[in-house]
Amino acid sequence: MSKIILTGDRPTGKLHIGHYVGSLRRRVELQNSGLYDKTYIMIADAQALTDNADNPEKIRQNIIEVALDYLSCGLDPTKSTLFIQSQIPELCELSFYYMNLVTVSRLQRNPTVKAEIQMRNFETSIPVGFFTYPISQAADITAFKATTVPVGEDQLPMIEQTREIVRKFNDVYGEVLAQPDPLLPTEAAARRLPGTDGSAKMSKSLGNCIYISEDPAELKTKVMSMFTDPDHIKITDPGKIEGNTVFTYLDAFAKNEHFEEFLPDYANLDELKAHYQRGGLGDVKVKKFLLAVLESTLEPIRARRAEYQKDIAGVYEILKKGSEVARETAAKTLDEVKAAMKINYFDDEALIASQAEKYKM
Ligand code: TRP
Repeated sequence: MSKIILTGDRPTGKLHIGHYVGSLRRRVELQNSGLYDKTYIMIADAQALTDNADNPEKIRQNIIEVALDYLSCGLDPTKSTLFIQSQIPELCELSFYYMNLVTVSRLQRNPTVKAEIQMRNFETSIPVGFFTYPISQAADITAFKATTVPVGEDQLPMIEQTREIVRKFNDVYGEVLAQPDPLLPTEAAARRLPGTDGSAKMSKSLGNCIYISEDPAELKTKVMSMFTDPDHIKITDPGKIEGNTVFTYLDAFAKNEHFEEFLPDYANLDELKAHYQRGGLGDVKVKKFLLAVLESTLEPIRARRAEYQKDIAGVYEILKKGSEVARETAAKTLDEVKAAMKINYFDDEALIASQAEKYKM
C-alpha cells in the first residue's frame, strides 16, 4: 500500500514558532525522507470559515502568509502538493455523504469540538458548519487516501473520528477508504510551546507569539522580555527549570552544535540547566543564548521568505497548480466512493441494461 501524508493549517494568521517545532520542521523532514509516495499540505480556508464566517477578509489575507511560511520553512512544491481546501469541491461532496455515517451525539462528544465551543463561547449558537467540521476534516484526509496525518495532540480526536467514518464506510459500502494514523511530534518539548509570557499556548490575541517570520529586532525584544523563574532574582539564587519558558524553548530548539558555536563553556543543555539550578547563572545570559539559537534557526527561513516575497504571483501559481493536482486525486476518490454507494448511474451500463430488461415487454 502506498504511504501518503496529508496535513494542513487554518489560515487565520501567520504561523508561529510553536507551529514550526510542533509540525513544520517535521513535515519538511518527512517530505525529504523519501519514505512517502505523496505529501499533501492543505491550507484549510473552508475550515477556518466555519468559525470566521463574518470575517472572510481575514482568511483571504492569510492564505499567502501561510503559503510563504510553508515555502520558507522548506516545503518544496516539487516534492509536496500545496493546495487550498476551498478549491476542491469534491471535499464538500464527500462530507455530505459522510454526514450520514456520524451521529449528532458522536460529534457532541468530540473533545476538540467541545473545547473549541467553550473557548469561542458558542454554547447556544453553534454554527452547523463548525459543529460538523470533524466530518469535513475526514473528507480532507480520505479524499487523498492519506495513511499518515502529522498533527499536534489536540487533533487526535479528529483522526479518531476519521477512522470511525472510514470503518463505517468500508463496512457498509465496501473497502474504498484508507484508515489514517496520526503522527505526533516525537519530542515532548515540541508538543506544546508556551507563549513568551509563560501561558500555556501561543495565541495572537494574547500577544505572546514569536512568528516564524519575526524580524531580528522584534525577536530580540520578545526573547529578552520572556517569562522565566519569578523567584530567580539575584544571579546567585538557585533557579527553576520547570515552567521556565526560556528553558522550555531551549528544549525545543537548542542543539549541541549551538553550544559549540554560541556558548562553548557548556557542552549541552543539561550542563546549562544544572548551573541555573545551582545558582550563579543569570537570566540575561540564558536569554542571549536562546536569542542566538532562534536567530540561527530563523535567519535562513527569513532569507528564503524574502526570495518568495519577490514573486507573490508565483506563489499563488504554486497554490493554483497544487490545487489542480489535488483536485484530480480527490475526484478519483469521489468516483470510487460514488460507485461504492451506488450513485454512479450514468457510467453503470449494467444498471441501465438491467432496468431496460425489467421493462421489456
Ligand atoms: N484542524 C486542523 C487545525 O486546526 C487543520 C486541518 C484541516 C487539518 N483539515 C485537516 C489537519 C486535515 C490535518 C488533516 O490545525
